[in-house]
Amino acid sequence: EVYVILKGMPELEKKLEEALKIKDVIIVPGNSQKNGLVLREMGKIISAKLKDIIKPKDIIGITGGSTMATVADEMTPSNKPYDVTVIPARGGLGKEVETQSNSIAAKISQKLGGNYRLLYVPDSLEKEALEMIAKNGEIKEAIELIDNMTILLFGLGRADIMANRRNLPKEKIDGLLKNGAVAEAFGHYFDIEGNEIWEYKTIGIRLNKYKEMEHIIGVAGGEEKAEAIIAISHLSSKMTLVTDESAAKKILEII
Ligand code: G3H
Repeated sequence: EVYVILKGMPELEKKLEEALKIKDVIIVPGNSQKNGLVLREMGKIISAKLKDIIKPKDIIGITGGSTMATVADEMTPSNKPYDVTVIPARGGLGKEVETQSNSIAAKISQKLGGNYRLLYVPDSLEKEALEMIAKNGEIKEAIELIDNMTILLFGLGRADIMANRRNLPKEKIDGLLKNGAVAEAFGHYFDIEGNEIWEYKTIGIRLNKYKEMEHIIGVAGGEEKAEAIIAISHLSSKMTLVTDESAAKKILEII
């Protein structure tokens, strides 16, 4: 199967913007979970979108995951360097280096010709240990950058899948699901109305900061992420969503 994208899906996009009450929706035909070409096309669109809004001195936060890793791969290198800083929006080291936010931040900044800062914070630390780490000079600087972030590019996922990927204890996962968690983004878990159920404690973007931001671009496709997309769309009407036809149709069935 080869997809040639000529002009997007304007009618479906408009319907979805209205249903999700968000600023902008871009839909790539097909199913990105089944067809790598669709996912790559989503990456290219994000790359174009990002270059459209970037201003000098922007601080671009990014998150991890396989979708964001593809976005980074598909980003077209710029011929003029951008005066921007790219930073992981949240700490947390996953097992697979190529899908970690640190690797993705480095790759995106290279493509843009900008700077990057890494954030080395392990995934499961107690409150006291996190407080200690936050005193470290480099981490302090990273926290300041995160607080002053001007653009956020993020992946979002299903609560159950992300909780398993993070190796949360079974009772914790059961509890989250019992409380209605369907979505995870930047370490926060939400129910379908966008109510926060739980936050995985680490260093990174706060929910209030997210809600205040002007430029937020979420990327997620595949019908299994439909509920997660609905949940995250409740958080801010300023979100631009880059998704696929399969998720779009499923969302319209549910809403
Ligand atoms: O927080 C959610 C993840 O970024 C989604 O990960 O792109 O591998 O599905 P994924």
